[in-house]
Amino acid sequence: MNKSLVVITGHSKGLGKALLEHYLSLESVEIIGISRSRLDIDSPNLTQVSLDLSDLDVLKNELEGLFPEDSYDQIVLVNNAGWIGEIKPIGKMHPREMRMQVNLNLLAPMYLSNAFIKAYKNHPAKKVVCNISSGAATRPVAGWGGYCSTKAALAMFTMVADKESGASDFRFFSLAPGIVDTDMQEEIRKAAESDFPELQKFLEFKEQGELVKAEEVARKIEYLLSNPEEFQEVQQDVRKYEAP
Ligand SMILES: NC(=O)c1ccc[n+]([C@@H]2O[C@H](COP(=O)([O-])OP(=O)(O)OC[C@H]3O[C@@H](n4cnc5c(N)ncnc54)[C@H](OP(=O)(O)O)[C@@H]3O)[C@@H](O)[C@H]2O)c1
Repeated sequence: MNKSLVVITGHSKGLGKALLEHYLSLESVEIIGISRSRLDIDSPNLTQVSLDLSDLDVLKNELEGLFPEDSYDQIVLVNNAGWIGEIKPIGKMHPREMRMQVNLNLLAPMYLSNAFIKAYKNHPAKKVVCNISSGAATRPVAGWGGYCSTKAALAMFTMVADKESGASDFRFFSLAPGIVDTDMQEEIRKAAESDFPELQKFLEFKEQGELVKAEEVARKIEYLLSNPEEFQEVQQDVRKYEAP
């Protein structure tokens, strides 16, 4: 039987949870979900790892045992966990939150990608790393200094990984999910307008029903992960392709 392994960070809520639910509906997929909180799901296909990914010392110690050895046809890592951060202009940001955000949004996916490649470089499976990006990786947004910077840096890291992979059986994607109706958007709507000049626009996205359901976005991400050969570029945006 064909078997896949999918490792998802931030599987407990929002987009990660929608992706998890999709994969749980398939029989032959082993899933490892990494978040601080655990879901009350009892499935032989799911292993939940409770980890604060902004604590890099703990993450470093977990890396060795994280990626199982088995005969898989496809192995996928989705670095999805992320935090909008403290929404404040530069000059009002707090060093502790800045460090937590860089650890979670940038260094944790770098550590995980590095360990993933090390673990599976000789594995014959098709291997895909998908780092969840954002439109904010290429568009400066006032109040989102840490978010824009970490997403931009992660996108560049992904492009370097792709360049280094050459003709290997690894594929790397930096994927923007669009504007998704999750807790992260709720957090954005709670920002003070004095710290976040675009607040009104984000309130209107919600009021006018412009936020996309996490399940819909998860379906598109899963399509890309299952059909990487149809996607040539490293940088992808779910709004720019259809999932038939
Ligand atoms: N929503 C959007 O409109 C949007 C737009 C562009 C990009 N994105 C990106 O899409 C990804 C998913 O976002 P979302 O909207 O689904 O966010 P969300 O609803 O806030 O969920 C975030 C997930 O990350 C986990 N997480 C947060 N901090 C963590 C930590 N310190 N250690 C381990 N896990 C942690 C959370 O689990 P625990 O709380 O249990 O730890 C949760 O499962 C993020 O990378 C985000 O930047 C989202």
